[in-house]
Amino acid sequence: LTDTYTLNNGVEIPIVGFGTWQTPDGDVAYQSVQTALAAGYRHIDTAAAYGNEESVGKAIKESDVDRHDIFLTTKLWNEDHGYEATKKALALSLKKLQTDYLDLYLIHWPNPLTFRDNWEETNAETWRAMEEAYRDGTVRAIGISNFRPSHLTTLMKTATITPAVNQNYLNPSDLQPEVTRVNASYNILNEAYSPLGTGELLQVPMLQELAAKYDHSVAQLILRWSLQHKFLPLPKSTHADRIKDNTNIFDFTINDQDMQSIDELQGITRIATDPDTADF
Ligand code: A2P
Repeated sequence: LTDTYTLNNGVEIPIVGFGTWQTPDGDVAYQSVQTALAAGYRHIDTAAAYGNEESVGKAIKESDVDRHDIFLTTKLWNEDHGYEATKKALALSLKKLQTDYLDLYLIHWPNPLTFRDNWEETNAETWRAMEEAYRDGTVRAIGISNFRPSHLTTLMKTATITPAVNQNYLNPSDLQPEVTRVNASYNILNEAYSPLGTGELLQVPMLQELAAKYDHSVAQLILRWSLQHKFLPLPKSTHADRIKDNTNIFDFTINDQDMQSIDELQGITRIATDPDTADF
């Protein structure tokens, strides 16, 4: 869990992160993050929109792990775009997380309804504020989430810093080849939220059979598949046994033929939300 990828700005990022989407604020988020840190996770992924930054921050603060040994990500919500609003939202996230810096700050969505009419200009202004936060050291890396190639290439017209990360719904049911190809062309790391398809993929018989063959759980098989694609999976769980289970993914290798069979599952669960039509 302490293995890292190197981002395009030279910053090291632990190759598995603990996801907290749909983890309720309060005790559940607090306990989950504490359990994750005790299990060895050193990378926590949250977002202003998840509503749990305060509990995540408290769990980190009250853990035995030094803040500097944890890679912490949060995301800018749709209502807070634009130059000034981004700065304000970042300050509020830092306060809730009880920290004076972030390891990674992401634009959560490229074109939600709140600014769909002028998403190009809005993202450019938002990015300008994020670049400033990067330059003054408040954030160690900046990136994007749910950006399709068109959103990214538009952002790159005004950006002076290339995003380090693009976080997407990325799992065996949705490989998003066009997104990962464009990310690769900019040396942008592919982070995978809902790596287990929000749990749906655990019920797929073909994956259950393969997991048995490798003597691992289905979740472990899928997370291993994600790593072998050089993605950075962000599995979420609120159960201690599962949080630990999801870390035992370094003692086996999926062979090429089985990797391909898993790739071919594409489309079996819901397709990723399309940012151009999503109701955000
Ligand atoms: P729970 O939080 O109740 O433990 P994703 O990371 O793709 O969003 O998937 C998260 C979902 O998968 C959650 O519903 C979580 O349930 C469930 N989950 C996570 N890890 C495991 C596991 N090892 N075994 C079974 N279910 C899991």
